[in-house]
Amino acid sequence: SHGYFTYDPGFMATASCQSEITYIDGDLGILLYRGYPIDQLAKDANYLEVCYLLLYGEAPTAKQFEEFQRLIMRHTMVHEQLSSFFKGYRRDAHPMAIVCGVIAGLSAFYHDPMDITDQSHRETAAHRMIAKLPTIAAMAYKYSVGQPFVYPRNDLSYAGNFLQMMFAIPCEDYKVNPIVERAMDRIFTLHADHEQNASTSTVRLAGSSGANPFACIAAGIASLWGPAHGGANEACLTMLEEIGSVDRIPEFIARAKDKDDPFRLMGFGHRVYKNFDPRATVMRDTCHEVLDDLKIEDPLLDVAMELERIALSDPYFVERKLYPNVDFYSGIVLKAVGIPSSMFTVIFALSRTVGWMSHWNEMMSDSKQKIGRPRQLYTGAPEREFRTQVKK
Ligand code: SDX
Repeated sequence: SHGYFTYDPGFMATASCQSEITYIDGDLGILLYRGYPIDQLAKDANYLEVCYLLLYGEAPTAKQFEEFQRLIMRHTMVHEQLSSFFKGYRRDAHPMAIVCGVIAGLSAFYHDPMDITDQSHRETAAHRMIAKLPTIAAMAYKYSVGQPFVYPRNDLSYAGNFLQMMFAIPCEDYKVNPIVERAMDRIFTLHADHEQNASTSTVRLAGSSGANPFACIAAGIASLWGPAHGGANEACLTMLEEIGSVDRIPEFIARAKDKDDPFRLMGFGHRVYKNFDPRATVMRDTCHEVLDDLKIEDPLLDVAMELERIALSDPYFVERKLYPNVDFYSGIVLKAVGIPSSMFTVIFALSRTVGWMSHWNEMMSDSKQKIGRPRQLYTGAPEREFRTQVKK
C-alpha cells in the first residue's frame, strides 16, 4: 500500500492481446508463422511467400503468389516528390532517422483517399508499405553516401531489387549475386514477425486510436531503433569490433557480469526466449554458408564464435538462460554482403513491416477492438492543497 492506494495485483494485469499470426514458446525455442516453423520457412519459402502467409493466414498457391508478387513489385516506386524529403537531412544523418521521418511523411502522399475501415483499403496500405520500404531504405543509404537514387526494377526478385537499389551506380551495370540475394531474402524472412515485441505493440497501440497505417509504421520504426530491440544488430557489430580479438573477450564478459557496468553483451538474451532463439540457429548457419561461399575470412566471426562458446559455458549466462539471439549473427552476414552497420536496423524495419502491417490489419479487422489504454500503479504524492510560491 502507498498510503493512498491499496496495491491490487489484478489492477496491474499485464496487457496482452490475442492474435493468430505468430506463436513463440520461449522455453522450448519455438517460433511459428501461422503454424509453420521458422526454420522450414527460411529454408523453403521466399520472403514474399512469407509476406502472403503472414498477411492472409495461408501459404499462396503458385497463381496467388504470381499475382501477389506482380502487385508488390508494381508498387515499388515512390512519388517523385518524396525524394525532396531526403534533402532536408544532413548527409551524415542516421538512416533510421531518415526512414522514420520519410515513412511518417507517406501519410501525406497515400493516406487521404484511404478508408481504413475498408478491408480492401487496408490491404492496399499493406501492399504499399511492403513494396516501398526497400525503395525508401535504399534511398536513405544512397543519400548518406552521396550517390544518386536508383529506381526499382520489376524484373528482379524482391531481395535482388533491394540490392540493386542499394549498390547499382549509373556508371556501370550491377549484377545481383545469387548467394547474397538468397541470404538477404532469408534475413528478411527471419525478421518478418515476432509476436507482441516492443515495436509491434507500438504499432498496435498507435493503430488502436485510428491513426493512419503510415504513421503507425513510423512509430514502430522509432521503437525498433532502440539498442535493446532492433538496434541490437548494429550495436552487436560495434561490440565485436570493439572487442577486436579473441584474447579481449574475457574483459568484456567480466563487464557484462558487472552489475555496476551498464554494458551488456549485444546479441545475447531475450525477453521471451529462455532457450536458443530458433532464428539465431538459422542465422548462424546462413552466416557460415555466406562466408564460405563468398570466401570471406572475417576475424569478427572468430570473435563471435569464441564469444558464443564462452558465454554458453559461463554459469552467469547459463543460469540466466542468456543465449545468442537473431541479432548476434545477422550483423556479420550483412557486413559480409557489403551492408554498412548503419543500415542494419533499417533492414530489420524493412523485414518487419509485413509483421507490423499484419498485426495492424488483424486488430483493425476486429470490430470490437477499442483504443489501447494501459493503466498504471500510482506511486506519486497523495492529494494536497496548492499554495503558489511565485510572486504574481
Ligand atoms: C530483439 O521481443 C522481441 O521479440 C524482440 C526481437 C524481435 O524479433 O522483435 O526478438 C528482437 O529485440 C532481440 C533482443 C535484441 N537485444 C539485444 O541483443 C540487446 C542485449 N540484450 C539485452 O539488453 C536483454 O537481454 C534484453 C533487453 C533483450 C532482455 O532484457 P531483460 O528482460 O532484462 O533480460 P532478462 O530479464 O532475461 O535478464 C535476466 C538477467 C538480468 O540480470 P540479473 O538482474 O538477473 O542479475 O540477465 C541479465 C540481466 O541484467 N542480462 C544480461 C543480458 N541480457 C540480460 N547480462 C549481460 N548481457 C546481456 N545481453
